[in-house]
Amino acid sequence: MDELDQARLGGAPPRSDSLRLPEGVGLTAVGVALARARESARDDRLFDDPYAEAFVDAVGDETVAGMKVFGSYIALRTALFDDYLLAAARGGCTQVVILAAGLDTRALRLDWPGETRVFEIDLPDVLAFKYDVLGEAAEAAGHRRTVVPADLREDWGAALTGAGFSAQAPTAWLAEGLLPYLTDADNDRLVDRVGDLSAPGSRLGIEVVNPTTTYRGDVSGFKRMQSSIGAPWRSTQPDPSGWLIRHGWRPADAPTMEELHRRYGREAFLDERTGTGAGGLVTAVRGG
Ligand SMILES: C[S@@+](CC[C@H](N)C(=O)[O-])C[C@H]1O[C@@H](n2cnc3c(N)ncnc32)[C@H](O)[C@@H]1O
Repeated sequence: MDELDQARLGGAPPRSDSLRLPEGVGLTAVGVALARARESARDDRLFDDPYAEAFVDAVGDETVAGMKVFGSYIALRTALFDDYLLAAARGGCTQVVILAAGLDTRALRLDWPGETRVFEIDLPDVLAFKYDVLGEAAEAAGHRRTVVPADLREDWGAALTGAGFSAQAPTAWLAEGLLPYLTDADNDRLVDRVGDLSAPGSRLGIEVVNPTTTYRGDVSGFKRMQSSIGAPWRSTQPDPSGWLIRHGWRPADAPTMEELHRRYGREAFLDERTGTGAGGLVTAVRGG
């Protein structure tokens, strides 16, 4: 049994002496943690992620400095999906599956209803790094949190079910910061697998990159980072709501970037992504 298996089963193996850092696309999760750490330090923070800073400290923020330009966008998207997941859990979704969870610590930091189980799927190296950095905090989540190392381009359903997920129970799914790194064909397969595993009442939150989005900030550093770590965006989606409808989901909330700013009181338009058209963030309900 390796360390991850033991962690999944609630054991407490000794941690490795030398930290294994994520590589490639896994490093983008550290960039998101950097944004969450910076937001958590604000007096007017939209959420508090007390674990985010430790991930950044372990890697060093120079590696992911290119993602700073998306800091306020990531803070808004985090707040939106925090609210979506909590509302879904309180509305009857007893399972939460975070696809490409990265260094997301919602399983630890949100006030879930008692019976909620949170499954985190990501690549093995990212989950191993997360396990090593979180230390005992990860164990405090007890049986609520289960990690599932898997490649989301493959058939990950059996691994999820093997980890205790039930396709008979309503689930709140989240694909945040993932779909742009996969191809259109991968994303079609992924959303169909999610649909197959979704009982009535299930919900899904997604983030895509809308190709019509314009950027106020200079994103050249981000592009350089993507190319240096070998993690380009491989797809964009101009019509996320239409895409979800075609795959059996009814969009419930699809705020424009302006609406998102207003909703969370960031009227100064601090964000780097602008535009009044469709944003890339949508939550939906299974079925018509
Ligand atoms: C930008 S990060 C987002 C992480 C997290 N959702 C968040 O918002 O904090 C992208 C994540 O996608 C994961 N990822 C990318 N391709 C993947 C794949 N094929 N299978 C599983 N995870 C993948 C990476 O390992 C990384 O953790």
